[in-house]
Amino acid sequence: MPESQQSHRKDEHVFLAEKYFRATADAGFEQVRLVHNPLPETAVSDVSVTPHLFDWQWPFLINAMTGGSQQTGVLNAQLGRIAHALHLPIASGSQSVALREPALAKTFTPLRSENPDGFVLANLGASATWQQAQAAVAMLDANALELHINAIQEAVMPEGDRDFHWLDAIADIVAHSHVPVIVKEVGNGMTHEALTQLTAIGVQYVDVGGRGGTNFAQIENARRSAPGPWTALADFGQSTVESLLEVQASPLTVIATGGVRSPLDIVKALRLGASAVGISGQVLHWVIQDGEAAAQAQLASWQATLPVLLAALGAADLAALRQLPVVLAPELRNYVAQRQLTLPSPD
Ligand SMILES: Cc1cc2nc3c(=O)[nH]c(=O)nc-3n(C[C@H](O)[C@H](O)[C@H](O)COP(=O)(O)O)c2cc1C
Repeated sequence: MPESQQSHRKDEHVFLAEKYFRATADAGFEQVRLVHNPLPETAVSDVSVTPHLFDWQWPFLINAMTGGSQQTGVLNAQLGRIAHALHLPIASGSQSVALREPALAKTFTPLRSENPDGFVLANLGASATWQQAQAAVAMLDANALELHINAIQEAVMPEGDRDFHWLDAIADIVAHSHVPVIVKEVGNGMTHEALTQLTAIGVQYVDVGGRGGTNFAQIENARRSAPGPWTALADFGQSTVESLLEVQASPLTVIATGGVRSPLDIVKALRLGASAVGISGQVLHWVIQDGEAAAQAQLASWQATLPVLLAALGAADLAALRQLPVVLAPELRNYVAQRQLTLPSPD
């Protein structure tokens, strides 16, 4: 069966995300310093990294990537097995293609069939109807739903949406949903103003989806036959760290995705108030470059590293981590001042 234009697009996203993957991201983590504690008075055996978010055992998830073509179905099976082996939550790529072409559902369902007891997050764009949202959740027997908001990606995509009214649809989906709904940016970051709007319509979970990691303006630009004026948007938006500073004082539960490349990045995001962290491009890179077993081993080594980092910092758990001193680079202090935000302080 010839693959549809939508399926081809999914393959292109994977190919281009890997092509542009950089081992060092620009999400702002290098502008955040945790202060070394010479006398931690903690042992690794004392440390818990439980995030107290849903029933997650780890404070990070494999975040939304793919599905919708034969090749990405194979990838989802690999990702589903890794999530299962490591007890990591995992999010699906956007399932809208499978709602339009039901034959493609089988390229998403391995996330569940390979991971029968795992925490699986369904994924759709924020213009979906609540009926579509329920269908996406049912397709994966999902435990939560991510609704992605991606104005910049849509703007750069030749075939992208030109209508960015999303709040009513999000409110409808939240009102009808039987599972938690996470509103997720995909790489241009969050603002405190948006959080206020989301809070007002009943949203309880956001993924700040900051700039600095996988860059969909760059990816969609590369899909055009000739680069257009859109190249100017390649560095647009708030980095993941800036986004975390935006949402400091929020009552919402915050997940931080975008440019996470090391366990230390995870620890910094958690220190800045994230309840958990999402990782996509790095996992894709490991799977494509080194294969499923090596990707699993890499993620397992991150799991082993997290409690050691916390112990070395003298934090017995994530609440204690959030009390630790942190030093911000001048650019971040400047950002905080101009945006009239508060500096991170112990909570
Ligand atoms: C190949 C690929 C496809 C993606 N597709 C989706 C998607 O369908 N829905 C979504 O919400 N995010 C999608 N994302 C965005 C990721 O979930 C994540 O927000 C983004 O890649 C930033 O994280 P990273 O820097 O760790 O890659 C995709 C990412 C990649 C690499």
